[in-house]
Amino acid sequence: MKVACLGGGPAGLYFAISMKLRDAAHDIAVYERNRPDDTFGWGVVLSDETLANLSANDPVSGEAIRKHFAYWDDIAVHYRGQRTVSTGHGFCGIGRKRLLILLQQRARELGVKLHFETEIEGAAEFAKTHDLVIASDGLNSKIRNEFAPCFRPETDVRKCRFVWLGTHQKFDDAFTFIFEETEHGWVWAHAYQFDQDTATFIIECSEATWDKFGFTAMTKDESIATCERIFANYLGGHGLMSNARHLRGLGWLNFPRVLCERWSHENIVLMGDAAATAHFSIGSGTKLAMESAIALADYLQSEPTMQAAFRKYEDARRSEVLRLQSAARNSLEWFENVERYLHLDPVQFNYSLLTRSQRISHENLRLRDKAWLEGAEAWFQRRAASNSPTVRRPMFAPFRLREMTLKNRIVVSPMAQYKAVDGCPTDWHLVHYGERAKGGAGLVCIEMTCVSPEGRITPGCTGMYAPEHEAAWKRIVDFVHTETDAKICCQLGHSGAKGSTQLGWEEMDAPLRQGNWPVLSASEVRWSPRNQRPKAMDRADMDRMRDQFVAAARMAARAGFDMLELHCAHGYLLSSFITPLTNKRTDDYGGSLANRMRYPLEVFHAVRLAWPTGKPISVRISANDWVSEDGIEPEDAVAIARMLQDADVDICNVSAGQTSIHARPVYGRMFQTPFSDRIRNEAGIATMAVGNIYEPDHVNSILMAGRADLVCLARPHLADPYWTLHAAARLGDRGEIWPAPYYQGRDQLYRLAESTGTMAASV
Ligand SMILES: Cc1cc2nc3c(=O)[nH]c(=O)nc-3n(C[C@H](O)[C@H](O)[C@H](O)COP(=O)(O)OP(=O)(O)OC[C@H]3O[C@@H](n4cnc5c(N)ncnc54)[C@H](O)[C@@H]3O)c2cc1C
Ligand SMILES: Cc1cc2nc3c(=O)[nH]c(=O)nc-3n(C[C@H](O)[C@H](O)[C@H](O)COP(=O)(O)O)c2cc1C
Repeated sequence: MKVACLGGGPAGLYFAISMKLRDAAHDIAVYERNRPDDTFGWGVVLSDETLANLSANDPVSGEAIRKHFAYWDDIAVHYRGQRTVSTGHGFCGIGRKRLLILLQQRARELGVKLHFETEIEGAAEFAKTHDLVIASDGLNSKIRNEFAPCFRPETDVRKCRFVWLGTHQKFDDAFTFIFEETEHGWVWAHAYQFDQDTATFIIECSEATWDKFGFTAMTKDESIATCERIFANYLGGHGLMSNARHLRGLGWLNFPRVLCERWSHENIVLMGDAAATAHFSIGSGTKLAMESAIALADYLQSEPTMQAAFRKYEDARRSEVLRLQSAARNSLEWFENVERYLHLDPVQFNYSLLTRSQRISHENLRLRDKAWLEGAEAWFQRRAASNSPTVRRPMFAPFRLREMTLKNRIVVSPMAQYKAVDGCPTDWHLVHYGERAKGGAGLVCIEMTCVSPEGRITPGCTGMYAPEHEAAWKRIVDFVHTETDAKICCQLGHSGAKGSTQLGWEEMDAPLRQGNWPVLSASEVRWSPRNQRPKAMDRADMDRMRDQFVAAARMAARAGFDMLELHCAHGYLLSSFITPLTNKRTDDYGGSLANRMRYPLEVFHAVRLAWPTGKPISVRISANDWVSEDGIEPEDAVAIARMLQDADVDICNVSAGQTSIHARPVYGRMFQTPFSDRIRNEAGIATMAVGNIYEPDHVNSILMAGRADLVCLARPHLADPYWTLHAAARLGDRGEIWPAPYYQGRDQLYRLAESTGTMAASV
């Protein structure tokens, strides 16, 4: 096969090597614009796992690379005058130049023809004279652009500015992150040693900071001098060096995240950065490029046709790319928003940094550096004013709101049961909530309990508008208080335009088949074309409903609830005022966000006055309508949370969506937690996170990183009322209190957990 690799970076060279190894008869040439020892960039990081893959493919180059590796185990973080070090991270680094020279030598040895200082203008001519053309011309691939309608690239240019520099200052004991506050904002560096006397020094900052420094107008030398001044305390008198000769100025860039929809066109195939990029902060671009080279060489050998090989290559590599791009996105967004975290204590800041890509979990950190993690856990417990004699995981730290202290951070999220009769909770509710309170969660939140019969979502929804409701709830609350040490929260709400609909397990949100009642909302906007057109509330409706909320709050207080939550999420009545999708009013309650918040806040203030001062109130919001800028977006949610904080709301329960049938949520593990993180760290109000959080590890990492104060689990508590006690048993935590009649079950579970080592296996 006659092959041309256009671009002699890791992708092009390693593909040439891999093909020759599979069949020495292939006629392969690599074309590269630079000289052999002339490269942009300094060191690159590879993992042990990648190196094992390279060695399995080609032991000769694998061994040569291994010999030149610099290894380090520690990550050091300089932040607010402190250097914090954690260990067990296991990285290796190699100079990019060294790597390319080793690959060039190996390629030459195997008979690959290398053409340097050859600028490629396009692939079309090569495609006519070669069987196969590899488009390995990197990030700004000309070939990708030449065939853009076929490859359909999507490029997302990210917000921060960065520059890839080198230094002779030693960073040989740890991969080092340095965060420096300057007169123009924060600037940070990622530094690591890659050979005896050189380290990579990547500098990054926000576009705003970069502008304020005036880097754009500076010469290369001025830019370098400015960077050296910023990091003088860490450079030990050494300078910074640039080798970006082909770039103007110092080579400050915005990272472009690239993904092509198709990776091949006729006999041309994309590889490495030309096909997809992964942000440098997770150090995986070279790995992706070289592992893709192996994969394509394999498929060209195993598949009957070249097109079949391309299909397999694209399928296999795309999923790997998407996995790494997702981690890279988390990581780069963390850096883009780093100023949000710069108020955190160094311990929490470090934890947040280490877990930013969500690839390293809480228990994984324990495996890496037990002592460091235990120190962080001890810090968390101290902050939570825990009096536990032993260090416990963050989920088992107490939490105080006004005069209510929760024994731990787990919340049974509100979940409608649709088992009420005329709004009255039944024995179902006693058993259901009683079991969840016995199951170990610190706080049990009851389902949306409606302030009037018309305020119910379905005929099966619970209410708080009749004396018998108060009595029935009191029986449940009394049980929880007498038999458990959980606290219980009453969620009050009104269904608005989503009311008069069927039970959850029938046709959700669809109108009743018969017996519909009229519905109210902020404006005359139906939930869906099938639902009733609601009446837009007038002032009399607003006064009446506010008074209903107040009456319900008084009943909840008499029933003995420890906490109240106002349901302002999910498209129900109070939420219909907040989101512009359903609030089309032209009076003081519509238009600006301040106007749209006016009625929910009026209700809150009235309820607050009726609710005991020692007891907290939370407000649940939808932090994202998931319908683009027409609806609420996370940025608006921060503004909403600020208004809640000003109103003296104790904690914001950060949910999302369910406000429009046109919503397009992006689901995934902990998918709503970023909204809680943003609200907590930008607005400074306490938050609860919720949404597809189901492992103790998720909970611990959310809490430890400061992404929320409490964590709500809904569906996991339907499957397992004892989720918290079971999690504690598996984690080896013996501090949670079980109901006395269950001691023998507890002890058996503990023994089983210890003897099977479940603790390690299950986290
Ligand atoms: C700041 C920074 C730090 C990084 N750190 C790491 C890290 O630690 N670990 C890691 O794995 N990855 C890292 N990367 C990513 C890594 O450098 C790339 O993902 C990797 O080099 C991709 O290999 P490639 O062969 O596809 O592209 P490249 O390495 O970019 O190679 C493409 C080659 O094509 C040549 N070329 C381009 N156009 C033409 C043309 N028209 N004619 C002739 N030749 C041409 C270029 O000169 C270049 O040599 C980092 C990237 C950056 C920006
Ligand atoms: C059956 C069911 C009923 C729900 N009812 C309510 C409710 O009454 N009030 C509310 O705010 N959220 C309600 N939710 C949403 C949950 O509280 C939670 O936000 C959502 O299920 C995401 O959490 P999870 O991934 O842990 O299930 C309900 C969820 C389920 C599964």
